[in-house]
Amino acid sequence: MRNLQNIAVIGGGLMGAGIAQAFAAADYKVTVFEPNQEVRLSLRQRVVENLKLLGADVAIAERIETSGGLAEAVAQAHYVTEAAPEKLDLKRSIFSDLERVAPVNAILASNTSVIPITQITEGLKTAHRMVGTHWWNPPYLVPLVEVIQGARTSQRTIDHTMALLRLLGKEPAHVKKDRPGFVANRLQHALWREAIAMVAEGICDAKTLDTCVKNSFGLRLPVLGPLENADMVGLDLTLDIHKTVIPELDCSAGPNPFLAQQIDAGRLGFKSGEGFSVWSEKEMSELRKRLSLHLMKAQSERHRDERINDEKSNITSTENAR
Ligand SMILES: NC(=O)c1ccc[n+]([C@@H]2O[C@H](COP(=O)([O-])OP(=O)(O)OC[C@H]3O[C@@H](n4cnc5c(N)ncnc54)[C@H](O)[C@@H]3O)[C@@H](O)[C@H]2O)c1
Repeated sequence: MRNLQNIAVIGGGLMGAGIAQAFAAADYKVTVFEPNQEVRLSLRQRVVENLKLLGADVAIAERIETSGGLAEAVAQAHYVTEAAPEKLDLKRSIFSDLERVAPVNAILASNTSVIPITQITEGLKTAHRMVGTHWWNPPYLVPLVEVIQGARTSQRTIDHTMALLRLLGKEPAHVKKDRPGFVANRLQHALWREAIAMVAEGICDAKTLDTCVKNSFGLRLPVLGPLENADMVGLDLTLDIHKTVIPELDCSAGPNPFLAQQIDAGRLGFKSGEGFSVWSEKEMSELRKRLSLHLMKAQSERHRDERINDEKSNITSTENAR
């Protein structure tokens, strides 16, 4: 996919800057369109700070240009990733503009968290080249990128996007049906819905709930997915457990009213210093640091495992050639 050399990113906020960094680190030339001048001017420095944290070469940031004009930013692009705010109308209008101003063969991807790409591209003439690519924060550390096939996305667009993401060292996952939340956010928010319902019902407090997750199945998740786990314990046991537990789980159709009550009371989480728990500046910064260190460790272990596997397959192919 080295022929997809010029990358454009639309929106240079948290995700846009991180996605630009992931492409730049793999030697791609990246241009970021960001309408807000202050955000635009701070972008390279934010990337430099991330690179320093990773112990990576800060010169990587020099491969990223910024622009205050959409047409200028995408003029030479082979691949465009949109990372503007999560508003359907805004994303629709950006994709309609991109269809007009980006090169006709450029792939146009959206980093929407939950909105189907089919909705974003409704009514557009070249939806075959439009695809959802859901990166996770921070994009330069979390391996998964969900690649969502909209109703009109071509197989060629999917194949090119998956191959390009693999070149960046990502773990792309092809999502064949374009449903809100795709795969990982549906799973994540199914868990959050039940967690919020349990706290609202007084089954346990928020701290206890997080302790239960982090010290049980949360520990196993990096090596044991839920369906591998079901196979391991047996589908017969899973069925017996589900007969008792599933009817008890929260199945309300909308967000839990408890969440709206918290927000009305000014409890927004880190943003206001209190959410399910009260947070001091020090606690917030320590948690952020712990998370970054954890993700960095996971990334270096992943790179080490990949190197070992490469070496093993080199040895096997040398032996087979004898
Ligand atoms: N924050 C996350 O953890 C996360 C994770 C995965 C996906 N996402 C998705 O990524 C997208 C961006 O999220 P974010 O957290 O980076 O938001 P952000 O607010 O940090 O960045 C969005 C940027 O888009 C810019 N912008 C506003 N209007 C624009 C326009 N018309 N064209 C281009 N840029 C415009 C804003 O100035 C801002 O800098 C959203 O769709 C979000 O749902 C976020």
